[in-house]
Amino acid sequence: MPVLQIVVYGDPVLTRKAEPIKNINEEIVELAQNMVKTMHSVPGIGLSAPQVKTSKRLITVDLSVGEKSEDLIILVNPEFVSQEGIVTSEEGCLSVPGIQEKVTRSAKVVVKGIDLEGKEKVIEAEDLLARVLSHEIDHLNGKLFIDHLSPLKRSLIKKKLKRQLEEKKS
Ligand code: NI
Repeated sequence: MPVLQIVVYGDPVLTRKAEPIKNINEEIVELAQNMVKTMHSVPGIGLSAPQVKTSKRLITVDLSVGEKSEDLIILVNPEFVSQEGIVTSEEGCLSVPGIQEKVTRSAKVVVKGIDLEGKEKVIEAEDLLARVLSHEIDHLNGKLFIDHLSPLKRSLIKKKLKRQLEEKKS
C-alpha cells in the first residue's frame, strides 16, 4: 500500500465538488486503505479523497492516529443528518500547511454515510470528532477551513500561501 501525495492549496481539485461514489469496488477499497495509511504516516487525524487528488466523496478520520483500531472511521458519501450548537477552536489542514486559525463550527453533529462493506453508518459526534468530520465533509464540497474566516483574514492567508507556492517553484 503506497503512501499518497497530499495536494496543497492552489490545486484545483481542492475547490471542486467531489462526485458521489456509486459502488464500492476494489478501487474504492484500495483508495480508502491508502488514505488511512497516508493519514497515519503524516500524521494526521482526518483526510478526504480530494486531498489525494481523487474527486470522490470519501473521508477517513482517526483521532487516535492508528493507536486504537475502533477509532478509525471510513465513510463513503458522508452527509450531515443534524448539527447543533456552535464552538470556536483552532484548526489546521494538511492541504494548507503552516496555517492555524480559529474556526467556528457546530458543537455536535450527526453524520451518516456508508462503510466499505456497504452498510449505513450513523455517527454522533461532539468536540474534536465533530470538528474533524465537518472539516472533511467541507473538503468534499470544495471548501477549505480558511473559507470560514473573515474576508480580510482569508485574503491575507491566501496571499501568504501564494507566496509560499511561488517560493517553492522558483
Ligand atoms: Ni483539511
